[in-house]
Amino acid sequence: MLKTRIAEALNHQINAELYSSCLYLSVESYFHSVSLSGFASWMRVQVQEELLHAMKLYDFIISRSGRALLEAVAKPDADWESPLAAFEQVLRHEEGITAKINELMDIAAAEQDHATKIFLQWFVSEQVEEESAVGEILSKLRLIGKDSSGLFLLDAELGKRVFTPPAQQGA
Ligand code: FEO
Repeated sequence: MLKTRIAEALNHQINAELYSSCLYLSVESYFHSVSLSGFASWMRVQVQEELLHAMKLYDFIISRSGRALLEAVAKPDADWESPLAAFEQVLRHEEGITAKINELMDIAAAEQDHATKIFLQWFVSEQVEEESAVGEILSKLRLIGKDSSGLFLLDAELGKRVFTPPAQQGA
C-alpha cells in the first residue's frame, strides 16, 4: 500500500507527464504551421512517449493498491518565434521534469519506499536520454542558424523517428 505522501507525489507526476504530452502536441501543431513535417513527426513520437510515462505512473499506483487521481492539465503555449525557440522551451521543460523526478526519488527515499525507488529508476534514466536527445537537436539548430537548407536536412532526419511500443522497449 502506498503512503499518502508518495501517492500524492506520484499523482502530481501523472499530471506533469500529461502536461508534457499536451505541450508537445502544441509544439507539433506549430511545426505543421511552418511546414516542418519532420519536426512535427518527431514531436508526435514525443507526445506518445509522454503519454506512456503518464500511464506507467498510473499503472504503478494501481498496482500498489493506490488511487490514481487526475488533475486539470494547464493550457500550453501555442506559438514560438522559431524552431530554435520551440526546442529551447522543450529543453527547459525536460530539465524541469528531471527536477520533479529527482524530488520524487528523494521523497521515496525519505519514506523508505524501496519499490517506488526501483520504479522511479526507469524515469531517472529516461530523463538522461530525453535531455540528451533534445540537447542534440538544439545544438544542430544553433549550428544551422538561418540556413534554410540545413533546416530542411534536419527536418528530413527528424522525420525518421518512430515510436517504439512499450513491449519492444522492455518497459
Ligand atoms: Fe516524461 Fe519528457 O519526460
